[in-house]
Amino acid sequence: MKIQLDLKERSYDILVERGIIKQAGSHLQLDRRVLVVTDSEVPQAYAETVAAQCRIPVICRVPSGEASKSLETFGMLLQTMLEHNFSRRDCVVAVGGGVVGDLSGFAASAYMRGIDFYNIPTTLLSQIDSSIGGKTSVNFCGVKNIVGAFYQPKKVLIDPELLATLSERQFANGLAEAVKMALTSDCELFELIETKDIKETIDEIIIRSLLIKKNVVEQDETETGLRKILNFGHTIGHGIESSEHLSQLYHGECVALGLIPMCGESIRSRVIEVLKKCNLYHPIAFDWDAIAEAAFHDKKADGDTVTVTTVSKIGTFALTTMKCIEVIALAKECFSEEMI
Ligand code: GLY
Repeated sequence: MKIQLDLKERSYDILVERGIIKQAGSHLQLDRRVLVVTDSEVPQAYAETVAAQCRIPVICRVPSGEASKSLETFGMLLQTMLEHNFSRRDCVVAVGGGVVGDLSGFAASAYMRGIDFYNIPTTLLSQIDSSIGGKTSVNFCGVKNIVGAFYQPKKVLIDPELLATLSERQFANGLAEAVKMALTSDCELFELIETKDIKETIDEIIIRSLLIKKNVVEQDETETGLRKILNFGHTIGHGIESSEHLSQLYHGECVALGLIPMCGESIRSRVIEVLKKCNLYHPIAFDWDAIAEAAFHDKKADGDTVTVTTVSKIGTFALTTMKCIEVIALAKECFSEEMI
């Protein structure tokens, strides 16, 4: 299946095919120096399969986890390219999840003012969401994704077979982004997740999610408006994720919880049932002050507003401007009911 993301001179293909990693060399231009970036949790064989198809591969394996999305690791990738005499004609290939993609995409955007970047996402979250759309970044001074660039890959290869090695928890982590997109944009996708065997229909879930994201990014590449719907659930979700002592939850698990208060009351119990089916419903004892602080780090304590996506009918959305304190109050109320 080929999906073309149409961004004029920055357009590229997303190829979804089981086993495609073994044919990377026939889809990507690897007859040059290639920095293959992966992490310590990704099976070594994936990066090696790609490296074996490159003329001059250099594999860089960073520690897994959010801590690698740092200026230090970014600098280490640049230094590696410099030490191996990478020129403007060489390229970077990400073989990993969202951390690897965001970090290596940012390094590709900066090295010699930009060299080719390809993404081969290996987690469900990155296959469904983060590998396309060109957001690259690192975290800085404790703030997630605060330093980065919009830098589109030249091609994305999505191999659902790579998901076989993913833990159940990592699999659920990715499903959160599919549920997010289904809620705002595709009622049929929501029903598919709700009624069908998820593992058996995962290729269709990936493709339908990618088509939603493609449509959004084509209309609003740099998130001046519509693309904000891809942050559905992320305001509270990021707050939960960043509030220090709760950070043992994965990104998708936090986003899943963040979706609930932003859904209208009439659909909320249906959404919770789907999240339970996806193994994404883990409400915990929330520290709302810490969540508010993390979610609205760039706002004053009160009086300031934030634009959030809300869904009152599955497959549709509204962009709603609310006071930050109202967002927290809504979430608080919603979870105090849910946790009884
Ligand atoms: N993951 C949200 C976006 O790409 O905009």
